[in-house]
Amino acid sequence: MENKVVVITGASSGIGESTARVLAKQGNRVVLGARRGDRLEKIVKDIESTGGAAICKVTDVTNLSQVQDLAKFALDRYGRIDVWINNAGLMPRSEFIKGRVEEWDRMIDVNLKGTLYGIDAALPTMRKQNSGQIINISSVAGHSISIGSGVYSATKFGVRAISEGLRQEEAAAKSNVRVTVISPGAIATELPDHVKDPETKKTLDKFYADYAVSADRVANAIAFSINAPEDTTMNEIVIRPTSQR
Ligand SMILES: NC(=O)c1ccc[n+]([C@@H]2O[C@H](COP(=O)([O-])OP(=O)(O)OC[C@H]3O[C@@H](n4cnc5c(N)ncnc54)[C@H](OP(=O)(O)O)[C@@H]3O)[C@@H](O)[C@H]2O)c1
Repeated sequence: MENKVVVITGASSGIGESTARVLAKQGNRVVLGARRGDRLEKIVKDIESTGGAAICKVTDVTNLSQVQDLAKFALDRYGRIDVWINNAGLMPRSEFIKGRVEEWDRMIDVNLKGTLYGIDAALPTMRKQNSGQIINISSVAGHSISIGSGVYSATKFGVRAISEGLRQEEAAAKSNVRVTVISPGAIATELPDHVKDPETKKTLDKFYADYAVSADRVANAIAFSINAPEDTTMNEIVIRPTSQR
């Protein structure tokens, strides 16, 4: 396993946290970004206490200059960016008739614009290096739509559209930048905790209780895509609990 520099947004919990721990254990240097600095610092300390290399910086992915600062922080401390994982996301689902417009705005800002800002922050460095990998976290909801998932699905379909556009451009430029989309099903994280619409929350809580598997399943799929030979890319991975329909 090579010693790569991996930047992860939304690394303070769930899939991002688990990915940071798994990749650090494999010898990579991880750079953690999210808004909750106390959580990030604890994860960094845990990783360091087992001999791993990790640093963190408070980052709100809806703020372009903060995302650019995260990239600069990684470069200043570790000298390169081999992998950038656009993982930060939220899923306050509800039906359109509920009119929860602020939540729609938030999902677009974090899930979609946050991903674009991450690409903008990392891509010029990867072009200069003539190598790199951008991993975008979509969802099974980025492949199909259900009641209450319209806006969340729009952001996650969008993440796949952005990724395919980026993949084609980087292939045409022969930049050696790999583009990977990971689409998880139900994973046991804090994601459903932020659903505020009571009916949707009830349905989702039951769904997650019935099906969700742990975040390290996704972390290991991400590690698998990173560990593939440089001339080969896992472009899309869909990963569901076996029993999820
Ligand atoms: N769990 C699932 O079932 C599932 C399924 C498919 C896809 N996903 C996707 O997986 C990704 C990770 O979610 P998760 O399941 O691990 O949920 P989670 O435990 O709630 O983690 C979400 C992460 O995003 C961060 N975040 C939220 N808003 C942010 C912002 N404005 N700026 C920076 N970071 C922000 C949170 O950190 P702070 O609050 O500290 O900022 C947190 O670290 C998301 O993109 C989600 O859509 C999850």
